[in-house]
Amino acid sequence: MTRLFAPFCAVLARHPSRSPLEILNDSILNADNRRLSENRQHRIEEESSVGKKTEALETGKWDGVYFGLMSGTSMDGVDGVAVQFTTGKPPVVLGEAHVSFSKGLRDALFELQSPGENEIEREALAANALATRYAVCCHELQSMSGYSASKVRAIGVHGQTVRHRPEKGYTRQINNPALLAEMTSIDVVADFRSRDVAAGGQGAPLVPAFHATVFGAPNETRVLCNLGGISNITILAASGEVRGFDCGPANALIDEWALRHTQRAYDDGGQFAAQGRISQPLLNALLDEPFFDLAPPKSTGRDLFNPAWMDTKLAAFAGLDPADVQATLTALTATTVAREIARHASDTRAVYVCGGGARNPVLMQMLQQALEDNAVPGVPVMTTEALGVPPQQVEALAFAWLAMRCVAREPGNLSAVTGAAGARVLGAIYPR
Ligand SMILES: Nc1ncnc2c1ncn2[C@@H]1O[C@H](COP(=O)(O)OP(=O)(O)O)[C@@H](O)[C@H]1O
Ligand SMILES: [Mg+2]
Repeated sequence: MTRLFAPFCAVLARHPSRSPLEILNDSILNADNRRLSENRQHRIEEESSVGKKTEALETGKWDGVYFGLMSGTSMDGVDGVAVQFTTGKPPVVLGEAHVSFSKGLRDALFELQSPGENEIEREALAANALATRYAVCCHELQSMSGYSASKVRAIGVHGQTVRHRPEKGYTRQINNPALLAEMTSIDVVADFRSRDVAAGGQGAPLVPAFHATVFGAPNETRVLCNLGGISNITILAASGEVRGFDCGPANALIDEWALRHTQRAYDDGGQFAAQGRISQPLLNALLDEPFFDLAPPKSTGRDLFNPAWMDTKLAAFAGLDPADVQATLTALTATTVAREIARHASDTRAVYVCGGGARNPVLMQMLQQALEDNAVPGVPVMTTEALGVPPQQVEALAFAWLAMRCVAREPGNLSAVTGAAGARVLGAIYPR
């Protein structure tokens, strides 16, 4: 018995400030993690490319109508699309819907972003409420597309991220997919990120494979930039190589500041930011964050870029006009995205923006300016509308596509993007 606990006692002696339970958990986890990564070495396998056509996909066996539901870190609500996938043809959108979250649900989701009292129960109840909103969205999609439940092959639903800790081996998108299957009578595919994390990846971003299939162009480097609560880019290189990673905060902080000073949930049209001027000292302070200089693969979320992070940075700038702060937070998003494009895709021919940030002309203009400032001049910044897909549909479409990949047992991740040991089929299926 003493021998069994010897390593634990040694660790305890080195960390007198930590509770015995914390250290015991850590030492068990570390040993298991070592074993896991040894196993992973044996699993590294040949990456299957996104474009590879397997026999099942070749025959069109998985063609059909899928629903995709995305509720991201902005926590504004759920965006849904109904889409027809047909092998060898571009996806056809049959309908879209947006269902917003009630203030009560938003508050519950915000509270779940950090540890608190009775969180298992609160998480479960919030997940039930979420699933109900997702079901409302699906019913809207059904009435819009005219497809009955039996004609829809599957719903791909992202869930709501409350923790993203790939470095600790987990990520949590809360949801009750069983309840959603019960309420819609449609197969539900959920929990897309966990398998990639289990394979040693970041579990994010998962959209690049989809971006590559619909937005890629031969011999031209393109950047897709999603401005949700967090920003992420996909680089579709002229060589065919696909890369992607999170860049930093986008609307998560912009929304928070707008709510505090304008009593609106977001900075509509960037009007508040437009009244202010960028404060270079504050921008420098905000940019002083190691995440921005990490090399990919990397992903982030509200775990790091939350109101507490922002308030710490703002502490030394209490006298600044709130509109100047809003302008600077907007510039932070633009600058961090532009810097990554300059570092990793300086030959890009165009940047295509999707997500709610595409509706903020001040942010779009700042992104254009930041590209000039970071030595990527003359690159047009447009929305994905220029490629035929409205910006609010892109993420939801990606999750419909990932659902199709899951039911077809085809990989959905790109290990070069996420850092996983290899290609994996993503998601868990809850049959209708
Ligand atoms: N008209 C608008 N003006 C400025 N920002 C907007 C507008 N409409 C939406 N947004 C921003 O987009 C966010 C939602 O974007 P979305 O792509 O749904 O992000 P997420 O995937 O994180 O939920 C809102 O929180 C808001 O910040
Ligand atoms: Mg959203």
